[in-house]
Amino acid sequence: MKTHLIHQLGLVGLASASLTCTPAHFQKILSKNNLKGTINSAYHIKENGTFAVTGNLAYPTSPTGLPALCAVEANMTTEVGTSYTFGIFLPDDWNDRFLAVGNGGYAGGINYIDMGAGVGYGFATMSTDTGHNSSYQGTSWAYHNEESIADWGWRAMHESTVTSKVLVNGFYGEDSRYNYFSGCSVGGRQGLRALQLFPDDYDGVSAGAPAWWTTHNQLFALKVLLWNFPENSTQTIPESLFSVIGDEVLKQCDPQDGLTDNIISDPFGCNFDPLPLLCTANKTTDCLTSEQIDTTFKVYNDWVDVNQTFVFPHYLFGTESSWSSAIGTGAMSSVENQEGFAQDLLQFGPNWSYKDLTYKTVEYADRLNPGNATASEFDIRPFKARGGKLIHYQGYADPTLPTGSSIYFYEHVSRALTEKSATLDDFYRMFLIPGMEHCMSTPSTMNAPWYIAGANQAAELGDNVSGVPGYRDSKHDVILALMNWVENGTAPDSIIATKYTDDTTHEKVERQRPICPYPQQAKYQSGNPDMPRSWKCESLY
Ligand SMILES: *[C@@H]1O[C@H](CO)[C@@H](O)[C@H](O)[C@H]1NC(C)=O
Ligand SMILES: *[C@@H]1O[C@H](CO)[C@@H](O)[C@H](O)[C@H]1NC(C)=O
Ligand SMILES: *[C@@H]1O[C@H](CO)[C@@H](O)[C@H](O)[C@H]1NC(C)=O
Ligand SMILES: *[C@@H]1O[C@H](CO)[C@@H](O)[C@H](O)[C@H]1NC(C)=O
Ligand SMILES: *[C@@H]1O[C@H](CO)[C@@H](O)[C@H](O)[C@H]1NC(C)=O
Ligand SMILES: *[C@@H]1O[C@H](CO)[C@@H](O)[C@H](O)[C@H]1NC(C)=O
Ligand SMILES: *[C@@H]1O[C@H](CO)[C@@H](O)[C@H](O)[C@H]1NC(C)=O
Ligand SMILES: *[C@@H]1O[C@H](CO)[C@@H](O)[C@H](O)[C@H]1NC(C)=O
Ligand SMILES: *[C@@H]1O[C@H](CO)[C@@H](O)[C@H](O)[C@H]1NC(C)=O
Ligand SMILES: *[C@@H]1O[C@H](CO)[C@@H](O)[C@H](O)[C@H]1NC(C)=O
Repeated sequence: MKTHLIHQLGLVGLASASLTCTPAHFQKILSKNNLKGTINSAYHIKENGTFAVTGNLAYPTSPTGLPALCAVEANMTTEVGTSYTFGIFLPDDWNDRFLAVGNGGYAGGINYIDMGAGVGYGFATMSTDTGHNSSYQGTSWAYHNEESIADWGWRAMHESTVTSKVLVNGFYGEDSRYNYFSGCSVGGRQGLRALQLFPDDYDGVSAGAPAWWTTHNQLFALKVLLWNFPENSTQTIPESLFSVIGDEVLKQCDPQDGLTDNIISDPFGCNFDPLPLLCTANKTTDCLTSEQIDTTFKVYNDWVDVNQTFVFPHYLFGTESSWSSAIGTGAMSSVENQEGFAQDLLQFGPNWSYKDLTYKTVEYADRLNPGNATASEFDIRPFKARGGKLIHYQGYADPTLPTGSSIYFYEHVSRALTEKSATLDDFYRMFLIPGMEHCMSTPSTMNAPWYIAGANQAAELGDNVSGVPGYRDSKHDVILALMNWVENGTAPDSIIATKYTDDTTHEKVERQRPICPYPQQAKYQSGNPDMPRSWKCESLY
């Protein structure tokens, strides 16, 4: 606490804060602790300053409006000889806590924009490039490079976290009191994998839309494109019909959830009849052929392969506005863009093509489990035993990773723990957000409340945003809810999601609605549906 105060005073004089914020100082902390690495940079940024990001394919946005902080970037060498970098923001006015933020896709870059959102709460905030330099989609780094895949799969995040805790102690003169993780998509997977492999790394984990089943979800991303392929064939649904399907789905599924509000709140509860979409002698435009209706059946049903083996869950009703990316339009280029996992992570090489995808590919991927990335150890009692808390969330309108994969994970953890007579609700809760897409945002037709300050969300509102503008409390903010659970034992009974009229100014709130812990759902009671008090969390059974 004393050092903490000195740093606050240092802000006034600046000199003392910047005194310790030098590469030499952090280099000394590394060598004193036998950590093999080089400090690339360390310098102080003034209140309301900008961290200028350069050379970052994955996260090019520079965070602005920062609190006064020390920005450090380190390049570390692993015991197998690979290297990874991480960045850490150490705020002058520290909240005594550490936060690691995750990556998306194959993103090989330090996620500085999410670090900006994290440091706004006062966390010492870290992100790693996961050991390679690439965009979200890039996989070429992985070919003939298994150890770098392990860096991406788990090692870089774990070691960056361990080293960051050392730097935090060396800088502030005390350990962080609590350690947190926040990530979405592959970032959600990073959080789940970390609490399975290294339960001591974090006290609290916020995992959004976790791409936890790496081997299956990466091959599903290709498989689903092949259902609506090739271009112009009789079964392929052209882009022009996606909104026709979306309108019919909304017409049927929206009222079935109890309130007609353009938001499909219970896609699993929708009994959808595609017949009104069928072309007839009298209706020849804005309609689907019988073959195209078969394609919608494939899209809305699980991928089940030989011997009735379940491979991956399906996209839900309400994702249609993003089908041009979700199921594609039959274009060869989109299909080729999804071959990278098999070519580079499964090491099949550049000659492997979509035509080679069979159930054998899935079996092989499971045996190889590249980078040990798949987060499928469902018995997470060690994390529970050390007092860990997990908040897991995903949007119901996710057009990138089927929402059912979250439910599959939750149900399997539930099964594994119930078998051992362990309870779930006291350390793990899942929140499914009606109308939210992948990690963030909502189709303009739905305009659903989605914002909870989850990973990657603040950047949608602006490059200087941290938390939920206007609502700095644990009822609206998933990070504050997690802290309240970890530190006070107050479990979140709901999280209120917010939709601003204009996300970029976020001045006026359009709608707010409680998101309920699974399997509860928010049910409309009475009054203005845009007010959270008009809703109640109810169990369906
Ligand atoms: C913060 O900096 C921005 C420019 O980056 C400036 O427009 C704004 O007025 C500054 N705010 C304060 C409170 O100084
Ligand atoms: C990553 O690669 C790009 C070019 O492919 C380069 O411009 C950039 O500087 C590299 N970044 C790092 C951190 O090495
Ligand atoms: C990190 O260091 C390694 C050598 O150990 C070097 O090859 C690599 O380019 C460095 N990366 C960055 C981003 O500094
Ligand atoms: C599909 O049809 C469109 C419009 O007729 C045409 O431009 C395109 O080249 C066709 N694509 C293929 C793969 O045949
Ligand atoms: C279809 O069109 C025919 C001839 O125009 C008409 O007799 C018939 O009633 C129509 N059927 C339907 C279902 O609208
Ligand atoms: C499917 O079932 C048959 C009959 O039991 C078995 O011989 C075969 O190996 C199974 N195939 C796979 C891929 O599991
Ligand atoms: C790819 O196929 C070509 C033509 O069959 C062959 O010459 C080449 O060696 C193959 N490349 C790899 C990496 O297998
Ligand atoms: C992969 O992780 C499991 C724990 O989930 C561990 O037992 C195993 O040793 C790891 N394998 C490798 C190759 O790191
Ligand atoms: C954040 O940036 C926006 C857009 O540049 C600006 O209007 C706003 O004043 C900034 N907010 C703060 C708190 O500095
Ligand atoms: C814990 O509870 C106290 C009292 O309600 C509150 O002031 C504090 O903010 C809570 N701490 C966290 C981390 O939420």
